[in-house]
Amino acid sequence: MSRYLITAALPYANGPVHIGHLAGCYIPADIYSRYLRLKGEDVKFICGSDEHGVPITIKARQLGITPQQVVDKYHQMMKSSFEKFGISFDHYSRTSSPVHHQTAAAFFKTLYDKGVFIEETTEQFYDEEAKQFLADRYITGTCPRCNNPNAYGDQCENCGASLSPTDLINPKSKLSGNTPVLRPTKNWFLPMGEIQKSNDFQEYIKRFDHWKPNIKGQCNSWLSEGLQPRAMTRDLDWGVKVPLPNTEGKVLYVWFDAPIGYISATKELLPDNWKDYWHKQNNEEDNPKLIHFIGKDNIVFHAIIFPMMLMQHGGFVLPYNVPANEFLNLEGDKISTSRNWAVWLHEYLEDFPGREDELRYVLTSIAPETKDSEFTWKDFQARVNNELGAILGNFVNRVVVLSNKYFKCNMKTDKKISVATFDNELNKLLLSYTKAMKNFQFRDAQAIAMDFARIGNKYLTECEPWKKYKAEDI
Ligand code: MF3
Ligand code: ZN
Repeated sequence: MSRYLITAALPYANGPVHIGHLAGCYIPADIYSRYLRLKGEDVKFICGSDEHGVPITIKARQLGITPQQVVDKYHQMMKSSFEKFGISFDHYSRTSSPVHHQTAAAFFKTLYDKGVFIEETTEQFYDEEAKQFLADRYITGTCPRCNNPNAYGDQCENCGASLSPTDLINPKSKLSGNTPVLRPTKNWFLPMGEIQKSNDFQEYIKRFDHWKPNIKGQCNSWLSEGLQPRAMTRDLDWGVKVPLPNTEGKVLYVWFDAPIGYISATKELLPDNWKDYWHKQNNEEDNPKLIHFIGKDNIVFHAIIFPMMLMQHGGFVLPYNVPANEFLNLEGDKISTSRNWAVWLHEYLEDFPGREDELRYVLTSIAPETKDSEFTWKDFQARVNNELGAILGNFVNRVVVLSNKYFKCNMKTDKKISVATFDNELNKLLLSYTKAMKNFQFRDAQAIAMDFARIGNKYLTECEPWKKYKAEDI
């Protein structure tokens, strides 16, 4: 038996969950966790709401409410939608929890005490009208790498580049629209370029060879460009307070605290033995396997930055795999929360009560595992009717009707009808199913599962077991 800690990216508590989130991350993570549990593995499946960072404060400004009100609203909403939809988290937490604040602050303090950070006063963008430093998404501009005019201060969502605000061409404040000015401020930087050169990190990245090609490719391209130091603190008033003297108005960078949320959530679930799921064990074979399910915009944080943090802290295992998916589009257009172009989970659950598995089935069959894919309602209808209903539904229905008729619902019979002619085919399918599951190819695995139903239907039609049943009078 192996021990697994499975995580699904903590969604920002700034809006409800949509089908893009489900197909990209939550359904695959749930499939994998359920599969491992069925195999008898020791699994903990962890998630929670990401309640800090600029996405939350921007939303609060838009709605004219406090950041706390924003996260309270969306945390409840997401938690209950996931529950109703049947995502089998062992624990769904939130990063405003006291355990998380303590854990994230202590983690930062450990790195600080070990002398990991570079403490540096740098010039950062400041909005004179709003009287505020402009971290991350408070600033937009043109991406220096791909020329996308709407890149954020921390990241370009078009090419995936991880950026610093001062990298942006023609920067603009999201608060006032003005061109910001530069002002000096002190922050603590993770020297990623240095860590990249360390033996431990070089040893770690050998794992990429076993990862999905899209992730390996992105990671290797960042590594070959060379990593820059990155600030792990921000001049903001919403987040985990920097646990050092004289740091009023400074909080931890949201991408520093959020992945630690996986650790805090495990602590909340298992206060006494959470370390079994996170720490290196005496024998390497006994190490827990840490697997992060994410969308492609999260790759650098999970495959490079968080592992560097864990490595510098010491004691922790590093990610065993980071299966990231591409994006799902909707009816020919990018899903967008701000343009309200999405199928929202809470609305689906209300409109189609009891039909969660239909959405789950369709989103798995079109999961963007290797490239972006597309959801349309027409395709949804076709897959539900022609596949789920006509193949699986039909098979289950025939089996239930026949067993009711011949065994009077009493399935505790030792009378067996051979399916010998199909044994070979079934064994082959089982092998390819297991291989697909192991490689996180859930689209294929589901298609193979449907083949079991197809063979079942074929068996019933060709072998007509009810005739045999009558003839042998069993
Ligand atoms: N909230 C981030 C997003 O939605 C994901 C955070 S994942 C974690 O893109 F590792 F930081 F928790
Ligand atoms: Zn770009």
